[in-house]
Order: sequence, then C-alpha cells, then structure tokens
Amino acid sequence: MIIVVGGTKGGVGKTTIATNLTVLRSLEPKAGGQRYEVMLVDADEQGSASDFVLQRNELLGRAGFTAVQLYGAAVRSEVLNLKEKYDDIVIDVGGRDTGSQRAALLVGNVYLVPFLPGSYDVWTLAPFSELVREARVINPDLVAYCVLNKADARGSENQQAADLAKQEAPELQYVDLPIVNRRAFRNTGGEGLAVSELKAKDKKAIAEMEALYRYVFGVTEAPKGNRKGIKAKSK
Ligand SMILES: Nc1ncnc2c1ncn2[C@@H]1O[C@H](COP(=O)(O)OP(=O)(O)OP(=O)(O)O)[C@@H](O)[C@H]1O
Ligand SMILES: [Mg+2]
Repeated sequence: MIIVVGGTKGGVGKTTIATNLTVLRSLEPKAGGQRYEVMLVDADEQGSASDFVLQRNELLGRAGFTAVQLYGAAVRSEVLNLKEKYDDIVIDVGGRDTGSQRAALLVGNVYLVPFLPGSYDVWTLAPFSELVREARVINPDLVAYCVLNKADARGSENQQAADLAKQEAPELQYVDLPIVNRRAFRNTGGEGLAVSELKAKDKKAIAEMEALYRYVFGVTEAPKGNRKGIKAKSK
C-alpha cells in the first residue's frame, strides 16, 4: 500500500505521523513471521523524515526500513519503479501544494491529511480536497482521509473541528481517531523512535497512534464516527 501523508500548512504533524506509521508497519509481523518491507520517502526538502532516520540509525544501528529522498516528478516515477520491491511505501510530503505532493497523489492508494483543531487550520483543508478531486481523474481509487492531530484531550473543540472539516473538505473523509497533543509525540522526532518505542511509555499516545495505523493499513474496521467509511485498498 502507498500512503501519502500531506496537505495543509506546516507543523501539523505530517512527519510525526508518517514516521510513526512507517515504524509500526516495519515492526508488524506478517502471517509467516516475516516483516513487511517498508520504504519511507522523504519528499519534503526540509528533510525532517530523513533526520528522524539518521537519529534512528545512530540509536539502533539500523532503521528497520528503507529511507529515500525524492522530490517533484521523481516521487511518482521512482515510486512506480520501486513499488514492487516493497509491501508498503509511506511518503512524507511538504506542507505546501508542491509538485511532490501532486506527484505522490498520482501513485498513492491513501492520502492522509493531519489537521489542527482551530477553525483557521480546518479552512486550510479545502484546497487539498480539491487536489484529491483532480488526482482522482488519473488515480480514481485514491482514498483520502483527514485526521485531527494535536487535538484536545477532552472538550467539544474536536467535534466542532470534525464537523467543519466535513463541510470544508468533502473529498477528505474524516477519520474519527484523533491524535491528542501529548509530550510523547513531541519526543519521537528527536529520538528517531516511534511513540511505542520510547522508554517512557505513554499508553494513551501509543493506543492513539496504533489505532490510526490499524485503520489506515486496513487492519481494523472503521472507527465509531466512520461506520460508513471506505476501507483502504491494498495495492
Ligand atoms: N500529537 C502531537 N502532540 C504533541 N506534539 C506534536 C504532535 N504531533 C506533532 N507534534 C510536534 O509538532 C511539531 C511539528 O510536527 P511535524 O514536524 O511532524 O509536523 P509537519 O507537518 O511535518 O511539519 P512541516 O510542515 O514543517 O514538515 C514537532 O515538534 C512535533 O514533535
Ligand atoms: Mg514534516
């Protein structure tokens, strides 16, 4: 499966989510006991996903997955070349509507757009909903989701943001599995570890990321608010 984590503006958690999903997939045992072959594509010139991998290699000696940097049209062509070699590919694209993002959407199976709960942040989703509509002309099976990140642990703000997202970005199906604003997630980037690998275990953070992982990779059924959700298709 090819998963593109992108959309919206900077700092919404694209790299945090892309790197955590990559690690979780690479650690998941397959039926025969083997591991999934996973590739993480850093398609953002800022290089944060690559920094994550550097930290990870330094700490663990090996990342457990392949990491490459690709930009612009090469995101599409190289992913097409490499996709048979990997079970799964996760692409972390930059925040702006770059060529990399458009190229990734032409080859992706799933587009996952994290967003923050404030109204100004939800409004930034609309152009990406439009981008999905355009990408589907060439890639009609593209499944597109948006998910709240840095959400409130409690309160009605999340629900309001979800309702607004459904209005503003009809092509992005809202996934009712918010990732809450937690220090554990802030710590993952600098350490090169997924939240489940950190020494100090934050059970809620781990459960949130694992639930998103299981849903996006089609391991579990749709969450409560998504009963009519489309299941992500395997490659
Ligand atoms: N759920 C969360 N709780 C707390 N902090 C978070 C959470 N998600 C991300 N962060 C932190 O927010 C900052 C931005 O996250 P991240 O780099 O993943 O965003 P991004 O969308 O990839 O940014 P950019 O657009 O710059 O690539 C980082 O410091 C990260 O550790
Ligand atoms: Mg990033």
